[in-house]
Amino acid sequence: MSREVKRYYLEAPEEEINSDIAPKTFDIWGIMDDYGKKLKLGNRLLDVGLGTGRFTLQAFKKGYDVMAIDLLPEFIARVTRKHPELKKRLHVVNLLDEKSVLKFVEEYGQFDIVTALGVVANHAQNKHGMTKILYNIVKFAGTNSLLVVDLLLEEMFPGKPQIIWSDFTHTLTSLTEMGQIFQKYGFTLLDAYTIHETYPAKGELFPEFNEHSIRIFIHKPW
Ligand SMILES: C[S@@+](CC[C@H](N)C(=O)[O-])C[C@H]1O[C@@H](n2cnc3c(N)ncnc32)[C@H](O)[C@@H]1O
Repeated sequence: MSREVKRYYLEAPEEEINSDIAPKTFDIWGIMDDYGKKLKLGNRLLDVGLGTGRFTLQAFKKGYDVMAIDLLPEFIARVTRKHPELKKRLHVVNLLDEKSVLKFVEEYGQFDIVTALGVVANHAQNKHGMTKILYNIVKFAGTNSLLVVDLLLEEMFPGKPQIIWSDFTHTLTSLTEMGQIFQKYGFTLLDAYTIHETYPAKGELFPEFNEHSIRIFIHKPW
């Protein structure tokens, strides 16, 4: 993570860091619950890139055996201060660093549900990093597991840019790359939604900003 992104995260208001996890028309908990039953999933959930910890806390309160990771120790410390009941469940892991990911998996095992909400996966400075993050996220998912991932795809933006600017650089993946990952792991695409978020204007220099990403529900059979 660049210094610029880190400064943004440590200074941004919480409502800006939180993704719109459950807009009125979107019931993430209902969908996860349905697939949990249909696929006979276990109860261990890993929240990748916890941010303010809002989703992690909701998952914990809903009875999931939850753990969460983030690159920023400041975020882990902040969430732990507010919610000491989550203390042992939160860990620093860098998604760009395979060693850090494998060490965590070795210690805590793989998970039945892996969430990476709020376009965590697109937080890379270049294509190489983006691909690394995607493959590293899959390493957390066990046999017969559900992945819920928010993504920015090149195909969602006119001219198919590889990088876009929204507060800071986001690197985009593509349908082609996702297809390769699906093929490699035998994934099934269970559901796909478009999430629209509107960031209010911040003075004349920063007009209202519309963001959209896709949220996909993936089954990893093995
Ligand atoms: C937009 S926030 C999303 C927070 C939360 N998932 C949500 O939906 O509200 C992205 C989060 O990803 C984390 N992140 C970015 N790069 C990361 C990396 N390389 N490894 C682990 N976490 C990372 C950031 O620190 C931040 O907490």
